[in-house]
Amino acid sequence: LIYTQGQQDFQGKRILISGGGTRENLDPVRFLGNPSTGKMGLALAQAASDRGAIVTLIHGPIAPELLPQSPNYNLIPIVTAEEMEAAMINHLKESEIIIMSAAVADVKPAHYTNYKLPKKELSLNLKLESVVDILAKLGTLKKDYQTLIGFAAQTGDIVNPALDKLKRKNLDIIVANPIDKAEAGFGTNTNQAIFIDNKGKQETIDSCSKLELAHRLLDFVKVS
Ligand code: CTP
Ligand code: CA
Repeated sequence: LIYTQGQQDFQGKRILISGGGTRENLDPVRFLGNPSTGKMGLALAQAASDRGAIVTLIHGPIAPELLPQSPNYNLIPIVTAEEMEAAMINHLKESEIIIMSAAVADVKPAHYTNYKLPKKELSLNLKLESVVDILAKLGTLKKDYQTLIGFAAQTGDIVNPALDKLKRKNLDIIVANPIDKAEAGFGTNTNQAIFIDNKGKQETIDSCSKLELAHRLLDFVKVS
């Protein structure tokens, strides 16, 4: 392995990570979700804590078999984007590095119904509203001692949309992540990416395990 391993180069650094997908409930049996499994967030949390960081992972629902038995980091489960936003804000000040790898909903049902809606009412009454862009909000709150990192899950051209998100959300680094490749994106054990920082530095990471990608991102954080 080429990436830094066994090195305590993030000793004592506080790192806040989001992972997994959020769910936006419509009624007791239906929600708007996405295919995120949380593997990338778990890999980031493990890599950072293995390198000595004090890590908090705020995550959407993750299959129990994917969760580590005795993690060497803090796990905070949430369900909705609103809960993720509150948890991120709660842990923001103490954190020096913030990595938003979660697949957060873009819209949510405008109203939650506490009884099961008959299916014929769904297409008639389903109104959506926007969800707060958590990362953009963190970008407005960011202080000089903090490094803010986002992900951009893209199909087709990945660099230009990622550059746009880097600027628009006031990030230090963005991970441009193709999700239309066989071995990358949602649910896979491997991933590939282009890291881009706010000074224009880019690094292409070919398909590798999510854990290796996580280590490489930490390496990139150190040099950018
Ligand atoms: N993000 C967020 N809050 C949201 C939506 C996205 O914090 N409500 C974050 C994601 O965690 C990711 C980054 O913003 O780090 C980019 O997410 P992405 O879905 O690629 O971009 P969007 O800005 O949501 O735009 P679009 O979905 O239209 O591409
Ligand atoms: Ca989105």
